[in-house]
Amino acid sequence: MRILVTGGAGFIGSNLVDRLLADGHEVMAVDDLSGGDRDNLVAAARSPRFRLHEMDIREPALIGLVAEWKPEVICHLAAQISVRKSVADPVHDARLNVEGTASVLTAAHSGGTRKVVFASSVAVYGRPAVIPVPGDAAADPRSPYAASKLSAETYLAAFKALHGIDYTTLVLSNVYGPRQSPDGEAGVVAIFTDALLNGAPTVLYGDGAQTRDYIFVDDVVDGFALACGDAGGGRRFNLGTGVETTDRGLHTLVAEAAGAADEPDGAEVRPGDLPAMAVDPAPAFEGLGWRPQTDLATGLKATVDWARTRMAAR
Ligand SMILES: NC(=O)c1ccc[n+]([C@@H]2O[C@H](COP(=O)([O-])OP(=O)(O)OC[C@H]3O[C@@H](n4cnc5c(N)ncnc54)[C@H](O)[C@@H]3O)[C@@H](O)[C@H]2O)c1
Repeated sequence: MRILVTGGAGFIGSNLVDRLLADGHEVMAVDDLSGGDRDNLVAAARSPRFRLHEMDIREPALIGLVAEWKPEVICHLAAQISVRKSVADPVHDARLNVEGTASVLTAAHSGGTRKVVFASSVAVYGRPAVIPVPGDAAADPRSPYAASKLSAETYLAAFKALHGIDYTTLVLSNVYGPRQSPDGEAGVVAIFTDALLNGAPTVLYGDGAQTRDYIFVDDVVDGFALACGDAGGGRRFNLGTGVETTDRGLHTLVAEAAGAADEPDGAEVRPGDLPAMAVDPAPAFEGLGWRPQTDLATGLKATVDWARTRMAAR
């Protein structure tokens, strides 16, 4: 089928593009390269079934592009992805994540798109009372980023009611893997990997007991590929492992994979940091036929190996 991936030059989007091409689909990526990188699409660009449009998803031209190409499915990943940036500039965040989603959905309508698969975030759960967070937990947005992702989710439901465009929302926990940038705040695996391979210091905030739910990018991409079919229509699913890993434990695992000393520096806990997070993925087992396949040590080894190869090539 024809599938459009917004944010297709980014970390998760480019891994998804590769997977969809391997599955035999025709794939178009739309990305303004504000955070993504053409280098992520070097392999994809060799396929005659792939094309990249360098375009902001808010441009009116997106409507004409989608009306003409008529993708059956749109995987919508283009976004402002930083909680801290959303706090510093909520208007910019809303423009990308709310206006951007409305623009993608309007284009989907113009192209007769059957389904939109959307990348939401566990940030929508705020400070959850129960961990792992159940799939039907109430949203409790505590940042402009969480509010804009939640708002985008409601636009999907509105466009389904209005125009019959089906959707699946995938609520992603902490995704890691090859092509994640170490420059942002979110990619702690990428940040530790980059520093430990370069002999640079690493920092743990607080006592290192904060937890997160790390999910390997190939598993996330599996979830998107499954959601491109008929499964999970009109529903939202947590994509995580349900397993909590402490910052301290993660550092040890990355240091082991990198062959580096496990000696992080300490720093004050950052205000607003969540003490714990993990999500219950069980509804996706039944609703999407999805299960995470990659244990953390295996995924970290693949991530460190990729970073090492990239460093050697530069
Ligand atoms: N990485 C994670 O742990 C995680 C967790 C939860 C949710 N998500 C969501 O998954 C999606 C992908 O995240 P990622 O980690 O791959 O980030 P990323 O920054 O690597 O990818 C986002 C891509 O969107 C593109 N983009 C941004 N604004 C755009 C615009 N206006 N028009 C066109 N393209 C634009 C960027 O250039 C980039 O290539 C995002 O929606 C993010 O909110 C990611």
